[in-house]
Amino acid sequence: MTIIVTGGAGFIGANFILDWIEATGEPVVNLDKLTYAGNPDNLASLAGDDRYTFVQGDIGDSALVSNLLERHRPRAIVNFAAESHVDRSIHGPDDFIQTNVVGTCNLLAAARAYWESLPEPEHSAFRFLHVSTDEVYGSLEMGDDPFTETHPFAPNSPYSASKAASDHFVRAWHHTYGLPVLTTNCSNNYGPYQFPEKLIPLIIHNALAGKPLPIYADGQNVRDWLYVSDHCSAIRRVLEDGRLGETYNIGGWNELNNLEVVNTVCQLLDELQPDSAGSYSRLIAFVEDRAGHDRRYAIDARKIERELGWKPAESFETGIRKTVRWYLDHADWVGRVTSGEYRQWIDRHYRAEA
Ligand code: NAD
Ligand code: TYD
Repeated sequence: MTIIVTGGAGFIGANFILDWIEATGEPVVNLDKLTYAGNPDNLASLAGDDRYTFVQGDIGDSALVSNLLERHRPRAIVNFAAESHVDRSIHGPDDFIQTNVVGTCNLLAAARAYWESLPEPEHSAFRFLHVSTDEVYGSLEMGDDPFTETHPFAPNSPYSASKAASDHFVRAWHHTYGLPVLTTNCSNNYGPYQFPEKLIPLIIHNALAGKPLPIYADGQNVRDWLYVSDHCSAIRRVLEDGRLGETYNIGGWNELNNLEVVNTVCQLLDELQPDSAGSYSRLIAFVEDRAGHDRRYAIDARKIERELGWKPAESFETGIRKTVRWYLDHADWVGRVTSGEYRQWIDRHYRAEA
């Protein structure tokens, strides 16, 4: 048995593949375009492991995807591939439309043709799991109830609009063609291998470099934070026993505003790597707000707990401590990512073979 993971060289996909192979031992084919966010270094520990195959390519390349499905005959596709950074989507939405919407539709079409060709029992066992975000639901006011799976979609950024569109297409492929799909909508992840453009790794990186810690507006925007390995275990549970055509919200029950998150990171750095110039919190700088910045996201994760018995293993306190330690212990990884050295590595290893 094999699964295909798309976008597995990114933050969550890489954590998912590492955890998957450890937890199940089942082979994985990773299809990743290696955009700026894709870093094969994240999976260096799997070099030489015959349970892991890397293929550089685009989910929008129908011929390539069909060929991979025929060759590897996976029992499931887990779709992480996406443009994922809200700020980038504000400055350039085109790639978000292309990968998140058009790319996902191409993947669905190829998956459908493959699934329809499968004999039993493979046909009934096949799954297409689409990894999505809580941002499709839009923004909550402070007193509002957290998002349930039936909350109306109201995306506000080009990123969340493109993910919402992809979720709708996944749903449509199930209702129209019967494709056995599952969708997960998760809150903000943090943990190892996150590209330092997102809040938590950016703050750790800037603090250690003595640079300002940029907080948009008043720092009161609220997110629900989930340690990445908890997201990975939730996806494994949904893949195993999720009901076809259903969506599952995944969250950590950890609502915090951005100032609280940044202060927690500073306190941990003060403890683990004190700076003689004083607390890292001295570097906090309130900067201009993000355009259309959603005020609050919060996840009601009771459905996945009730139906599949999933609960996060980490609290924010335990997860953020592990995360800060990981970045301190992997300064070489951060250095290669922030200097762009990993791009040269990709060029040497993959472009030459293309
Ligand atoms: P990421 O940006 O770190 O990684 C995305 C990966 O997809 C990269 O390896 C990139 O090279 C690859 N990719 C991009 N375009 C591609 C294409 N056309 N074909 C093949 N590969 C392509 O993103 P992430 O944070 O790991 O997020 C993964 C998924 O989880 C995304 O779908 C995102 O919407 C979703 N999600 C993320 C979060 C979060 O907090 N990061 C929360 C909920 C859901
Ligand atoms: P981010 O990590 O980009 O995730 P998302 O926008 O998908 O939630 O941002 C998390 C929160 O942190 C969000 O409210 C925006 C805020 N933020 C800052 O205040 N400063 C920053 O430099 C960044 C990148 C984000």
